[in-house]
Amino acid sequence: MISRGSTVLAAAILAGSSVLLVRPATAAPQQEKQPVAEGYGGAVATVDLDASRAALGVLRRGGNAIDAAVAGAATLGVTEPYSAGLAGGGYIVYYDARHGRVHTIDGRETAPRAMRSSSLEGVPFDDAVTSGLSAGVPGSVAQWELALRRFGTLSLGQALRPAIEVASRGFTVDQTFHDQTASNAARFKDFTSTARLYLPGGAPPAVGSTFRNPELAETYRQLGRRGGSWLYGGRLGAEIVATVKRPPVTPGSTRTVRPGLMELSDLAAYRAVERRPTKVTYKGMDVYGMAPSSSGGSTVGEALNILQALPGVGAHEYLEASKLAFADRGKYVGDIPGVPLGQLLSEGFAKERACLIGERAIPAPAAPGDPDGSYGACRAVPQESAKPIPAEGPETTHLVVADRWGNVVAYNITIESTGGNGIVVPGRGFLLNNELTDFTFGPAPGDPNLPGPGKRPRSSMAPTIVLRNGEPLLAVGSPGGSTIITTVLQILVNRWDFGMTLPQALAAPRATQRNTAQTQAEQGFIDRYGPELTARGHSLVLNPEIGAATGLEFLGGGRVQAVAEPVRRGGGSALVVSGRR
Ligand code: DON
Repeated sequence: MISRGSTVLAAAILAGSSVLLVRPATAAPQQEKQPVAEGYGGAVATVDLDASRAALGVLRRGGNAIDAAVAGAATLGVTEPYSAGLAGGGYIVYYDARHGRVHTIDGRETAPRAMRSSSLEGVPFDDAVTSGLSAGVPGSVAQWELALRRFGTLSLGQALRPAIEVASRGFTVDQTFHDQTASNAARFKDFTSTARLYLPGGAPPAVGSTFRNPELAETYRQLGRRGGSWLYGGRLGAEIVATVKRPPVTPGSTRTVRPGLMELSDLAAYRAVERRPTKVTYKGMDVYGMAPSSSGGSTVGEALNILQALPGVGAHEYLEASKLAFADRGKYVGDIPGVPLGQLLSEGFAKERACLIGERAIPAPAAPGDPDGSYGACRAVPQESAKPIPAEGPETTHLVVADRWGNVVAYNITIESTGGNGIVVPGRGFLLNNELTDFTFGPAPGDPNLPGPGKRPRSSMAPTIVLRNGEPLLAVGSPGGSTIITTVLQILVNRWDFGMTLPQALAAPRATQRNTAQTQAEQGFIDRYGPELTARGHSLVLNPEIGAATGLEFLGGGRVQAVAEPVRRGGGSALVVSGRR
């Protein structure tokens, strides 16, 4: 059933890509972003050189991985403000070296208490994106405070200092920032606060110019001094609520901007939550991920279990395992009580699902399985009715940090769409999120991801840490909406089944099968696998760019390899504390 030869060939071809030519950077100061760095004493990878430097500076000054991750995330809120920010949310997966344990912190946004399962029904998706209605109660600041309190050594004010400096002194506008601003210009101009900040003189800032955000610097400064309660029930929170309820629409704009339901009491009620990580064991390695409210850990984990139940893994099996895991994600996973996590991640269920995978592609959408604890012979999967799935861009962001003590962070942070809901809080220098568009709009009886009061929209974010024999082996994650799951899965499969190095595994062409009739794929993947997969019943359609991952691999003897994208999204930045032991 599996063509082993093709797997080996695939690895050889992909290994022959330009990535092999990338020479890992050591610890010399970098003027330009470099995608791979190897060394000792701590390491970081983000999409952005300023953010990587901020995190590295914290490590060099004696901070730990959590301190550096918060500093890096806050700096991304300055330099990548369309993907990350204090008014967004995210998930941290953390390996605590002292106790040899993996922890997670859910800093996902919540729906206001006034939200009902029908609140988004009939709202056109595009209207919801740019609205007060889609703004969730921000989770990032509560998450930063909890992470620092539980595992860090710095105060919030100290951790925000590098970001304050970058916001005050400014950063150089690159092509990505320019292009993301330009593609948002039509809606940014519809809000006075956003146009003032991001369209100075009426146009996106020029590539190569210096962009400063003194209002954000001041917001961070005050946040550091006053603490999270300034947001969660205090003055900053009141300003967020006012902006959500009465968005500062530019006079003369014809845009329909729906107000939101958020109240100050929703902010006061917000809590970041520590959760047990998901865990599966794949080829002897323990893969830890994010439990619901994210579907990341359960879906990556289920797909790995399915793959493990097969006699071998090639591109066809990767797509099929992902297809079936997405079918189960859709039916069972959301921020609801009673997600059957144990069964979804059980070997028995995986075997039952795996036995559906044969020579030919299963028609998609495939029906979900039955994770009821009783597993036997294969059950037929009737085809479900097709739902189109849009292309997902590389918004959102993921960073990884390791410190000299062996602690490791994988951290996904987001404001959902590129530019969130497009609305800057006047005078405060940051955009609001539109995370509530991750809910199912409905009507969809029985859907686990319908909106509800205080509920977190189901996420696909999948920050992942892998241990072998109790020691960190790898950390990885990506942006890309629901393609996050397939990107993380594909990187793990590339690394362990296709024999690639981690830099090769990140750079290799991607495909994403999320239980849809067509599999979206990058051109390189279509070129390599198109004929073989088409002959087996897959239908591939071009998605020019999938994901923008970062990762770490622990090479033994204290040596760490930090890896970012060499090309996608303009490339990322990997740094290490020291080139030498
Ligand atoms: O939580 C999620 O899954 C999404 N809100 C992440 C956003 C993202 O990656 C945007 N990409 N298309």
